[in-house]
Amino acid sequence: MTDDILNFSSDDRDLVSGNAFPEDQETEILSLRPEQLSEYIGQPEAVETLKIAIEAALKRDEPLDHVLLHGPPGLGKTTLAHILANEMSGNLTVTSGPALEKSGDLLGILTHLEERDVLFIDEIHRIPKMVEEFLYPAMEDFTVDIVFDKGVHARSHRYRLKRFALVGATTRVGLLSAPLRDRFGIFRSLDFYKESDLIRIAKRSASLLDIPIDDNGAAELSKRSRGTPRIVNRLLKRVRDYAQVRADGVITKATVDASLLLEGVDEKGLTGLDRRYLKTIVDFYNGGPVGIEAIAATLQEETDTLVDVVEPYLLKIGFIIRTSSGRRTSDMAYRHLGKCVQSSLFKA
Ligand SMILES: Nc1ncnc2c1ncn2[C@@H]1O[C@H](COP(=O)(O)OP(=O)(O)OP(=O)(O)O)[C@@H](O)[C@H]1O
Ligand SMILES: [Mg+2]
Repeated sequence: MTDDILNFSSDDRDLVSGNAFPEDQETEILSLRPEQLSEYIGQPEAVETLKIAIEAALKRDEPLDHVLLHGPPGLGKTTLAHILANEMSGNLTVTSGPALEKSGDLLGILTHLEERDVLFIDEIHRIPKMVEEFLYPAMEDFTVDIVFDKGVHARSHRYRLKRFALVGATTRVGLLSAPLRDRFGIFRSLDFYKESDLIRIAKRSASLLDIPIDDNGAAELSKRSRGTPRIVNRLLKRVRDYAQVRADGVITKATVDASLLLEGVDEKGLTGLDRRYLKTIVDFYNGGPVGIEAIAATLQEETDTLVDVVEPYLLKIGFIIRTSSGRRTSDMAYRHLGKCVQSSLFKA
């Protein structure tokens, strides 16, 4: 890699950040979402657990157990929540931890749920403590305690809720309190997708978007998508534009290569931010170990962005190693950056 990678604009890195953007909510992207569990590609263990839970719940005519989904952005947590509601023939209500500022916000949502509905709380680790405690009886007994008046006149009224299922999603399961975590009957971590699954997702999305893609094109796109379906779909749209405007309208390896070169996505799927992160550790901190705060300060980026978006994939492909004293780059990362290997692994 060359030094010009330090100059990528923020747009370049956002493209493969895995984070959801407003354009991902466009009807076109929404229509790429699988609607049923049978259409959901990959994550076989999670899918099997959920299949059994759904079938058992339907057989017993009970609500689905509460489900907690954990994993880096863009791996399909929201998609699974939609699917669970569809499979249970219930409605899906979507909210998020930071949106639930007061317990009153949650009360309104809970009392409107119907039998078999699914309440999806994204970023559940960011739910305020007060609201979280309000959620406990709702999850356990399908009741909420409402307090009227204040001081000596305070009266508490127990309100019965319909039997709903809560689906919580989090990128940081470690930040979830133990009492909340323990109230979920099913807990699944989603892992990065295998390349063969990403190829199937690329082909499925291409056919839904009505753009021809050949095997090599799908394979190359998958290699550069950081194991993440959302990135497959996002890159696919960029490559589709390129194929239709600069090529003959078919996605091949050559169109993927050419279009992603423009986007600043390298052959490993790393973006400008990933490479700046690696170069910071290598150039400023001699390969590490270095604390995340120091890296964030040097890069002038949010620590959360680095921890949630950048690091999971770099850890997965072994480009960085987390030790008790901080992050360290591996020999593979040195090679990828085109630098001499300094046997960073064996440094004290
Ligand atoms: N298993 C899958 N098969 C096909 N497409 C998928 C799959 N999982 C996810 N996708 C696609 O990836 C996109 C992103 O998935 P989703 O929004 O569910 O991610 P997420 O885990 O909720 O991310 P975040 O943490 O940012 O909320 C979806 O729009 C969907 O089109
Ligand atoms: Mg989501």
